[in-house]
Amino acid sequence: MFVLICATLLFSVRGIHAETGASVWGRQYCLTGTYCITLSEADITAEAGLCVVIPCSFSTATAFTTQHIVWFKCKTSNRKCGDSDIIFHTNKYNTKVQSLFKGRVSLLQPDVSQENCSIIINDLTESDSGAYQLRVNGLQYGYSDGLTYSERAVLSVKGLTQKPSVMIPPLTEGQQTTLTCTAPGLCSGSDPKFTWTWRGAGEKNSQITGNITALKTENLTAVTQRHSSTLTFNPSAEHHNSNVTCEVSFTNNITAEETVTLNVTFYPKILNGSKCEVQSGVLTCVCISKGIPLPYIIWPLLNNHSEYSVITTVSRQTIHSTLTVKDHSNTFVECVGRSRVGETQHNIPVITSPKREDPHGPSAQLPWVVVAVSLFVNVISIILIMFLWHTRKKVNPNQEDRMYMSIKKTDVSSDYEVIALPLN
Ligand SMILES: *[C@@H]1O[C@H](CO)[C@@H](O)[C@H](O)[C@H]1NC(C)=O
Ligand SMILES: *[C@@H]1O[C@H](CO)[C@@H](O)[C@H](O)[C@H]1NC(C)=O
Ligand SMILES: *[C@@H]1O[C@H](CO)[C@@H](O)[C@H](O)[C@H]1NC(C)=O
Ligand SMILES: *[C@@H]1O[C@H](CO)[C@@H](O)[C@H](O)[C@H]1NC(C)=O
Ligand SMILES: *[C@@H]1O[C@H](CO)[C@@H](O)[C@H](O)[C@H]1NC(C)=O
Ligand SMILES: *[C@@H]1O[C@H](CO)[C@@H](O)[C@H](O)[C@H]1NC(C)=O
Ligand SMILES: *[C@@H]1O[C@H](CO)[C@@H](O)[C@H](O)[C@H]1NC(C)=O
Ligand SMILES: *[C@@H]1O[C@H](CO)[C@@H](O)[C@H](O)[C@H]1NC(C)=O
Repeated sequence: MFVLICATLLFSVRGIHAETGASVWGRQYCLTGTYCITLSEADITAEAGLCVVIPCSFSTATAFTTQHIVWFKCKTSNRKCGDSDIIFHTNKYNTKVQSLFKGRVSLLQPDVSQENCSIIINDLTESDSGAYQLRVNGLQYGYSDGLTYSERAVLSVKGLTQKPSVMIPPLTEGQQTTLTCTAPGLCSGSDPKFTWTWRGAGEKNSQITGNITALKTENLTAVTQRHSSTLTFNPSAEHHNSNVTCEVSFTNNITAEETVTLNVTFYPKILNGSKCEVQSGVLTCVCISKGIPLPYIIWPLLNNHSEYSVITTVSRQTIHSTLTVKDHSNTFVECVGRSRVGETQHNIPVITSPKREDPHGPSAQLPWVVVAVSLFVNVISIILIMFLWHTRKKVNPNQEDRMYMSIKKTDVSSDYEVIALPLN
């Protein structure tokens, strides 16, 4: 009993406590030579949703046997925290632990005789910011005794800024792949919730149909766990440039998310629609290739020709190459699609078409329809101009009018502009 009074007395005479030495992680504060506590010197900072370790060690008189460790949180203006401020008690039957902290605090070293009072606080919220005070309860000379250390650990909890990390292996078209999202923080609180969402590139949203593991927990130590979730799917060209977001949701609606853009590699392919045709000794070949990165098209045939024309058009991941050359000796023409990723080769069979005189073929009719439409538009335009010229007698049709006319004509069909030109 005497010791208890003595200790309390020592506690009350705050001025006399001496600060002795500094260790790597903290500073030791002593009430007397034997009752010491080592705490982090600086304020401890942490983020909401995650957890924090308050490092702590203590020592007592040799005759004192530690039985329980108690942590309090109270206003710094209160010289000593009271029973209503208990946030942790090693006696799990203690009923005074604040409900807001129940189940969230644990000792890193459960053996109190190790004099290690470090605690981990999980599922942090900003309201956990404050000063934390330690008390040890035990026996001395057969009597119950206890001591509250005056030095406190100061914790400051800020909003969550850490993001989950998303791991993407190289993505190749058609090869099943697994993205892994790992939650920030190594804690032992409530399991976070993972949500995967994705937004496709281009006009239509490409949905990823895949298998999601809702949660994977990895025990690193007794008090630290790593949480992750995986998304397994079959990447296709449509997924290229789409954004995948992993959202991690902790207790109290604290969330963090990370978005990654998918980069799918697509081996070059020669698509259907590639064809070759000979007409009046002129060979016209179309080769269509698709790939990511976009391939380019090689015509090995051109090594033996000096006069040819090649027209290339590109739309998204597809390239069209149209070759025109005077040659009709081939039965097939080789087309090569090549990109950084590889190349693919295709032999296109050559079809010999009869001459274009066939009036019944739809391909032969179409230009005449266009010519007729062009003629009609031009005649209407001329009549219109004549009319305007007559109404505005002295005003000649100016340059703008003519411009308008030619735009009009082009609007009909730019493809057949050549055919329409002579009629102008
Ligand atoms: C307290 O125990 C934890 C867990 O065993 C350990 O990591 C930490 O270093 C210990 N602290 C001290 C001051 O011994
Ligand atoms: C994907 O994200 C990037 C940057 O975060 C953005 O520039 C791009 O527009 C997004 N794409 C889609 C399809 O949402
Ligand atoms: C998802 O899992 C089911 C059953 O385990 C399997 O049949 C299916 O192929 C998987 N889908 C993907 C995209 O991995
Ligand atoms: C992780 O630890 C918890 C309790 O500490 C236990 O229930 C769980 O089975 C452990 N999980 C693994 C994968 O070891
Ligand atoms: C969390 O947020 C959602 C919507 O944002 C809301 O419906 C829900 O009630 C919130 N839950 C809590 C515990 O605040
Ligand atoms: C995606 O691919 C492009 C082109 O190969 C490369 O420049 C870029 O760094 C890649 N991005 C990612 C996230 O892998
Ligand atoms: C291309 O044509 C072949 C045979 O006509 C067919 O089997 C194949 O599915 C087609 N491929 C595509 C991508 O349309
Ligand atoms: C080009 O001509 C040579 C000889 O005239 C021939 O051996 C070769 O196969 C030709 N190459 C192609 C792509 O036609």
